[in-house]
Amino acid sequence: MSIKLLGIAGSLREKSTNKGLLRAARASLPEGVSMEIADLGDIPFYNADIADKPTSVSRVLAQLAAADALVLACTEYNYSMAPALKNILDWASREPDNALLAGKAVAIMGAGGGMGTSRAQYHLRQVCVFLDLQPLNKPEVFANAFAGAFDADGNLTDERLGKLVKDQMQALADKVARLRR
Ligand SMILES: Cc1cc2nc3c(=O)[nH]c(=O)nc-3n(C[C@H](O)[C@H](O)[C@H](O)COP(=O)(O)O)c2cc1C
Repeated sequence: MSIKLLGIAGSLREKSTNKGLLRAARASLPEGVSMEIADLGDIPFYNADIADKPTSVSRVLAQLAAADALVLACTEYNYSMAPALKNILDWASREPDNALLAGKAVAIMGAGGGMGTSRAQYHLRQVCVFLDLQPLNKPEVFANAFAGAFDADGNLTDERLGKLVKDQMQALADKVARLRR
């Protein structure tokens, strides 16, 4: 069985710990599962007046179309998800019949302050309801970005969190397999 994942982080910064979580996920995938990581650095804010979709947006929408499931690293800004993540979901949601998102399985993770982006993750779960995404309930991945679990480049170095991310990727693959039946 082959499963293609697309990882999307809410943070744009180069040394982002949320991007680090996605890299850790990509490094611990079960057999038969592959993962691309989206680059949101050049995605403009959604604006219904933009008649011709920018190339950057088309690029990420094509990655979404090719993905069987999503891995969302939910950076938390001011108790909610960072705008870059919401923005790409907004762009994707405007495609006919919500075809890029509807029914797709999603794993949600995040690195932030002491609450591990839990508040933002629960907002994201609310957005998943309307988008008809299928978030994994467990395991949840709440990482503290300021407690030595990441190196200066944003790479995850904490073994316990690494195992949790790995377990979540296995659970995501299992969910995709169940949804295919
Ligand atoms: C505008 C802004 C608001 C933030 N608000 C929160 C917050 O509500 N909760 C939280 O845990 N961290 C908050 N932070 C801290 C971020 O979680 C922290 O910068 C984190 O490292 C961002 O993820 P990154 O490493 O992937 O860039 C905020 C940071 C910024 C820049």
